Amino acid sequence: MVVVGIGLIGGSLALALKAAGACREVIGVARRQRTCEQAVGLGIVDRAVTGLREVLPQLEPGDVVFIAVPTLAVEQVFAELRDKLPAGVTVTDGASVKGSVIAAAEKIWGQVPDFLVPGHPIAGSEKSGVTAARDDLYIAHRIILTPLANTDPDHLRQTVLMWQATGAEVLNMPVEEHDEVLAATSHLPHVIAFGLVDTLAHDAENENIFRYAAGGFRDFTRIASSDPVMWRDIMLANRDAILKAIDLYSANLASLRSAIAVGDSDQLMGVFTRAKAARDHFTKMLTKKAYTEPMQAQEVTFIAQPGGAVSGRLRVPGDKSMSHRSIMLGSLAEGVTEVEGFLEGEDALATLQAFRDMGVVIEGPVDGRVVIHGVGLHGLQAPPGPLYLGNSGTAMRLFAGLLAGQAFDVTLTGDDSLSKRPMNRVADPLREMGAEIETGPEGRPPLLIRGGRKLRGIDYRLPMASAQVKSCVLLAGLYADGETSTTEPAPTRDHTERMLQGFGYEVRRDGACATLRGGGKMSAGKIDVPADISSATFFMVAAAIAPGSDVLLEHVGINPTRDGVINILRLMGADIELQNRRSVGGEPVADIRVRQAPLRGVRIPEDQVPLAIDEFPALFVAAACADGETVLTGAEELRVKESDRIQAMADGLRILGVDAEPTQDGIVIQGAGEGVAFGGGTVDSLGDHRIAMAFAVASLRARDTIRIQHCANVATSFPNFAELATRAGLKLQVA
Ligand code: S3P
Repeated sequence: MVVVGIGLIGGSLALALKAAGACREVIGVARRQRTCEQAVGLGIVDRAVTGLREVLPQLEPGDVVFIAVPTLAVEQVFAELRDKLPAGVTVTDGASVKGSVIAAAEKIWGQVPDFLVPGHPIAGSEKSGVTAARDDLYIAHRIILTPLANTDPDHLRQTVLMWQATGAEVLNMPVEEHDEVLAATSHLPHVIAFGLVDTLAHDAENENIFRYAAGGFRDFTRIASSDPVMWRDIMLANRDAILKAIDLYSANLASLRSAIAVGDSDQLMGVFTRAKAARDHFTKMLTKKAYTEPMQAQEVTFIAQPGGAVSGRLRVPGDKSMSHRSIMLGSLAEGVTEVEGFLEGEDALATLQAFRDMGVVIEGPVDGRVVIHGVGLHGLQAPPGPLYLGNSGTAMRLFAGLLAGQAFDVTLTGDDSLSKRPMNRVADPLREMGAEIETGPEGRPPLLIRGGRKLRGIDYRLPMASAQVKSCVLLAGLYADGETSTTEPAPTRDHTERMLQGFGYEVRRDGACATLRGGGKMSAGKIDVPADISSATFFMVAAAIAPGSDVLLEHVGINPTRDGVINILRLMGADIELQNRRSVGGEPVADIRVRQAPLRGVRIPEDQVPLAIDEFPALFVAAACADGETVLTGAEELRVKESDRIQAMADGLRILGVDAEPTQDGIVIQGAGEGVAFGGGTVDSLGDHRIAMAFAVASLRARDTIRIQHCANVATSFPNFAELATRAGLKLQVA
């Protein structure tokens, strides 16, 4: 194809197309002879002319005319093209406002011609002119095309191909949506930047201001050195959408002004913490580090070389269950709650963000410290959209309970794994309490929870041992008339009950039964979240199986509803010592020392299953290293975790040469005893964090390299796992 670039701002496209060898010839059209000479001299175009009409007769079907002039000058170019454009030639443009381009085309042709493909590259810089052209400007940037119903598919395809050749990602959008989005994200910032610099420049002291203006001014106003004509045109062309954006921003600025005037620290913290979180999220998106929604999940593979031992003192991240609950109860309490040891993993962060979305001011997290400005049980506000809870089943199920009694509607969504998990286990009891909840097909997410329902207390017998279901019902009970009780078939983690009591909310506990009365209130407090025993488990098993190992895991929560892993490993013969036992904020804590010792296969007592429910992937690895057979029964719940953990582990273990037989409610594993217990190979964690970490630990007793696929979700519970594991002695690389 031949590409004709009209105007000054198409230089980077020309360079990129030439660099990619994507076209036969690039012809530049510029008004001034000097510009033409420069463009040819710099090698941006193959030839350049000052008049469009000269080149038009030379064009053939398949060629492209790209209009790169300021928005309001597009109409003049259309007028020159009319009646002179050979058939089959595509016309596209790069103007920042699409509505005005459509209007100009209608004016010139009577209707928008089918060869016109309006477009807008979302790239560029404040620099303009031929000398600013770069051949890599569009790599990994987005190009928005706004084709109309009558746009010819061949012309659309030709435009897409042209942009793709520059390394850009091309997407389509309706015209109005494009102009509104750009008004908010690009045009408004330019208005503000131009306006701010102009305001300061008018000041008599401006010399001094500019002399002393440091990073803030520089970073904020870079775009004020963009081309004035281009930006004048954009303002005039996208008037209505820009006015709307300015009005919204003005209202926000006025309310910030009054917050500053009256010294409203809460409001300032609200705006600043929300903005910081949003900006940090955006920064992560730009560097593709976050795994949260609008972003494509990153592909992470663990490559674990065989052998090694673990040693040293380690502190694994904060407890996931308690981190979720600290944000939930801290938000619903009255006063300011300070949390230390908060898990900065994706799951707990999703909960934190959801409460920010419901109007709670939350400072941090900074090094595990979070400060929550509680709004009281009735202080939440309707979120602006659905609450996205990522991979977190705990968040979704506990949220269902505490949102069932609010005055507003909420929709809860999650990632692919969460979207497959059963939610009727919470929807059923909540409906019994009077809540109105819609689920997706077969009781899966999303959950739509209708607000304004009156809840009544119930006496609920849980059909399965689940702390999430128990917590959900108790949290709904805070909003219900009368008493709400839960009775569980076996003890499950009791952090909700303990933390409620810690916040001064009375919970009566009698054996398997927990009862509370709705209508009370909670008062803020301090929460020290201990290290997560579920994360510590990977190092406990690592030390237990790898000869020469000796680790000390510091400040680990050893709540008796969570210590099944210690009991089961000890039953297998592991050498585990609990040192420095203490109570921290109502939770038992200890330092756990584990040294390698020969393990034997066991029949795992069923009463330990709920107490070790998250630890089985790692325990299966221990079982594969033990002498003899290990049998697990009564663990069907493992099939509805972040993955079907029975099947996922059995599949992976078999790939690594282990004799592992899944059963409906458990597994039977033949252990290797001493020496090598695993071969090598590639296993799939299915995006389940605990499966990924368990197979990494298996490498300590493997013969060959173990590659573990789909490990990005390790960040949900243990963001620095690879770093700690390597420090401890695993030979783990992240690809
Ligand atoms: C959790 C309860 C457990 C556990 C999950 C966290 C909680 O789930 O597996 O990782 O924080 O309440 P179930 O309630 O489904 O057993």
